[in-house]
This record gives sequence, structure tokens and C-alpha cells, in this order.
Amino acid sequence: MQSFPGFELVALKGGGRSIRSLVHGETMHIGTDPRTEALELHVRQQFLAERVLAWKDWRPFVIWDIGLGPAGNAITAIEELRGTTALVEIHSFEISTTVLEYALQHAVELEYLMGWEAVITQLLTVGSAQPLPNIRWILHRGDFTRGTHHVPAPSAIFFDPYSPARNIEMWNLETFRSIWEVVSAPESPACMMTNYTRSTAVRVTMALAGWFVGKGVPTGDKTETTIAANRPELLDKLLGEDWISRVRSSTNAAPIRGRNDEKGPIAAEDFAALMNRLQFRNIKYISGLPRLS
Ligand SMILES: C[S@@+](CC[C@H](N)C(=O)[O-])C[C@H]1O[C@@H](n2cnc3c(N)ncnc32)[C@H](O)[C@@H]1O
Repeated sequence: MQSFPGFELVALKGGGRSIRSLVHGETMHIGTDPRTEALELHVRQQFLAERVLAWKDWRPFVIWDIGLGPAGNAITAIEELRGTTALVEIHSFEISTTVLEYALQHAVELEYLMGWEAVITQLLTVGSAQPLPNIRWILHRGDFTRGTHHVPAPSAIFFDPYSPARNIEMWNLETFRSIWEVVSAPESPACMMTNYTRSTAVRVTMALAGWFVGKGVPTGDKTETTIAANRPELLDKLLGEDWISRVRSSTNAAPIRGRNDEKGPIAAEDFAALMNRLQFRNIKYISGLPRLS
């Protein structure tokens, strides 16, 4: 049996198991368990099954699974889409599939992978698989932050790298802009992107990259997460006046650029650019005071 010194299985509070990356010092899906987090945060929050059932476009319904890891989000989505008939393409992006190989070796302990071992093996060896008759699953190996994405525009994005403290390049302006360029193209479908963070700096970065940004559902021990979209009407809880006041006073609201993870308050020109975004243009008060410009 191959050994994977970079990972270990950990028991979660709720009784399930998940994987800890020893290199990144992070446990995946720590709040609940892989299946519950994937359902609450990504699959159900994005009304995935309902949207696929209603999908009438001639193109497949496309999901981008950014940070495939041990495939908790992808497998949960596939299971939730059982019974749908529209064509679906899942494009998973991953810099190193070692964690998925490790997960495959521990499919019984992890539970959510049980029954999908042959599909995962094919994805790893061939680069694509057919988990259900209407679903094609494609693996894109390599660094997601390098270059442009020549992949069909998504309707749903599961954005799930390690945290900004360990994986800064995935959270910077350049990366969010590179995705925004795809979802904001004229022919692109309505698209949502879900993620576990509620960091002010990350939300500022997403908004400056072009995204509409809203409050996401709670999951596990997180009282709030983040959901972004290419159209404001897709978001129930768009960030507004209260959040802008917080940005103004926060000591960690500067957008993330390059690999610079220096925390700090937002610079005047970044704040002006943020206020100029369509989402915030009509805000009249900041911290209770009338907006001056
Ligand atoms: C938290 S894990 C993903 C968990 C997974 N989505 C799941 O549901 O089980 C983060 C993953 O993002 C991958 N990743 C980090 N940086 C990346 C990059 N620049 N390009 C592609 N994948 C990256 C890591 O290798 C890791 O497998």
C-alpha cells in the first residue's frame, strides 16, 4: 500500500472523519463533516438540483470545482443530482491529486467516497469520468492561478482552496479577476460562487475583481460565509451599508494582491474604487455619516 506522509485522518466533533494536510496544517471540512458542509455551503445554497432540473439551455450546466482535494464537494453534488437529466459537466481543478489518492485508500473510513471508487480511479488515471449518465466529470491538473481558463463558463463555482493564510495566491485580486473574466462575458450564464470565508479582506478583493458579494449561509461553527455572483439578483443578502462601514474601520480590509498577505486598512483609492462598484454606488451613509463623494 502506498504511503502518504503529508496527510492523516482525523475524527471530527460530529463523529465523522476528515483529512488533515500536515503541510498546510489544515483539516478539511472541520466544522461538520465533508458531506454536510458540501451540502449546506455549496450544493443546497446554490439550489444546484433545482437549477439543473430547470436547465433548458442547449449547453451543459457547468460546475467549476476549484480545489478538488478529496472530492467531498464534487461527490456530494453528483449524489444530489441523481434523478436529473440535463447534461452536466463538472470541471475540477487541482494542483496535486495526492490527497485524492490518499482519500481513495481510506474510502471506507471517510464514508462519502464509498461506491465511487471506480469513478475516482478513472478520473485519476484517464482525466475524465462519467459518474452518472448525464454527468461528465473532467479533471484539470495544474496551478489554477496560472494563465487563463479555457473551460466552458460555469453556472456554479465551489471555491474551496486552503485558507488565505496558507494558500494566498488563490485568494488574490488576480485569481478572482481571472474567474470574473469568464463569468462576465456576454454569453455566460447566471453564476454563483460559494466559499467558507467571511473575511472582510477577501470580500473586498472579490468585489474589486468585479463580483457582486453577499452573506452566505452558516455552516458548522461558522455563523456566516460568503456567496458571490455575476448578477446581483442572484443574491438574497447583498452586502451593503453596514458592511461598507465595517470596511472603513477594519484593520484588515486591504485587498489581497499577488502573494502579499500583509494585513492592513484599505487604502483611500481602493475604498473609492469599491464605492464605485454598482453594488455600493447608491450607499448614502458610511458609519452613520453622509457619504461625501
Ligand atoms: C480544502 S482542499 C479542497 C477540499 C475539497 N474541495 C473537498 O470538497 O473535499 C483545498 C485543495 O485546493 C488545492 N489547491 C490549492 N492551491 C491550488 C492551486 N493553485 N491550483 C489548484 N488547486 C489548488 C489543494 O491542493 C487542495 O487539494
